[in-house]
Formats: sequence, C-alpha cells, structure tokens
Amino acid sequence: MAETTAGSQERHEGEGTRRDFLYLVTGATAAVGAGSLVWPLIDSMNPAANVLALASTEVNLAGVEPGMAITVTWRGKPVFVRHRTEQDISAAREVDVATLRDPQPDQARAEKPEWLVVVGVCTHLGCVPLGNRQGEPKGNFGGWFCPCHGSHYDTAGRVRQGPAPLNLAVPPYTYNSDTVITIG
Ligand code: FES
Repeated sequence: MAETTAGSQERHEGEGTRRDFLYLVTGATAAVGAGSLVWPLIDSMNPAANVLALASTEVNLAGVEPGMAITVTWRGKPVFVRHRTEQDISAAREVDVATLRDPQPDQARAEKPEWLVVVGVCTHLGCVPLGNRQGEPKGNFGGWFCPCHGSHYDTAGRVRQGPAPLNLAVPPYTYNSDTVITIG
C-alpha cells in the first residue's frame, strides 16, 4: 500500500515534471514565435533592406514641416525630399530660366510646389551634396552644396554654380495621398 502511494507520488511527480517540461517547451515556442514576428518589423525598418531589391519606395511626408527635409533610399540612391517654404518656392520661380546651365522651370520639377523630390547625387562626379540635414551648408542658392568640387544647387535642385553639368535628377514619383508618395 505504502509502495502504491509512493509509486503514485512518483507518477504524479513524473507527470508534474512532464507538464512543467511541456509548459517550458510551449513557452519557448511562444518566445521564438514572438521573436520571429518582431524580426521582420525590425528588418523592415532597416533602410538597407529595401535598398537594392525594391524598384519603388513609399515615403510618408507627414511630420516633415516646411523648411525640413528627409533623405530616403531608392534603388540604392539617396533621394532628397524637401518641404519647401514660401521663400524657397518664390526664389526658385523668380529665376530667369534662360540663364540656367540646365534650363528647367521650377514648375517642371515640382508637381506640388511645396514638395521637391530629387536624387541626391551630384551630377558632376556623383558625390552626395550637403544641405539636406539641419545645420548643413545649403550653398549660395539655398538648396544643396557639393563640397567635392564646389557645385551649388538652388531650391529647385538646379545647378547654379560649380562644375556640375546638370540639375539634380527628379525621379519618377506619384502622390498616393496628400501625405504619401511612391518613388519609382
Ligand atoms: Fe559634386 Fe564634383 S562631385 S562638385
């Protein structure tokens, strides 16, 4: 009888141990499951993830205040998206287009005047110009400055001074809504 009780206890202990083990395994599986859910989210926030593979890049413009700019990656290249101020727009539109090295009216480069979207690669030898981050020099025309050999771009991304032969390229993009664009 005593043996039976002891045996019964052993079985209970054995069952308890198995149950604990099952709980542990289940817990570990849940942790792994959660981990595998979190990773793609983190991965999708990494700019490198969409650099080379994706032909298009969606950009959320919400929160980019006038005077601010963001840099996104599209097909491995930096793209500058600037929320232009009234002064930026009027400076870009007052220029006599005939005097420009690469003559393009501002209206041909910005579908909505307040948003300028340009590829952030200098057309001279391919450096990334300064001026998109707060505090960086914007050059003599309020746009971007390429310190490699001294090219200056205006608030429409047009070359105004220095050796660059062409304006910063405008990539193809469409407005999905007032605050979201897709580049590419
Ligand atoms: Fe920009 Fe030479 S690469 S000025």
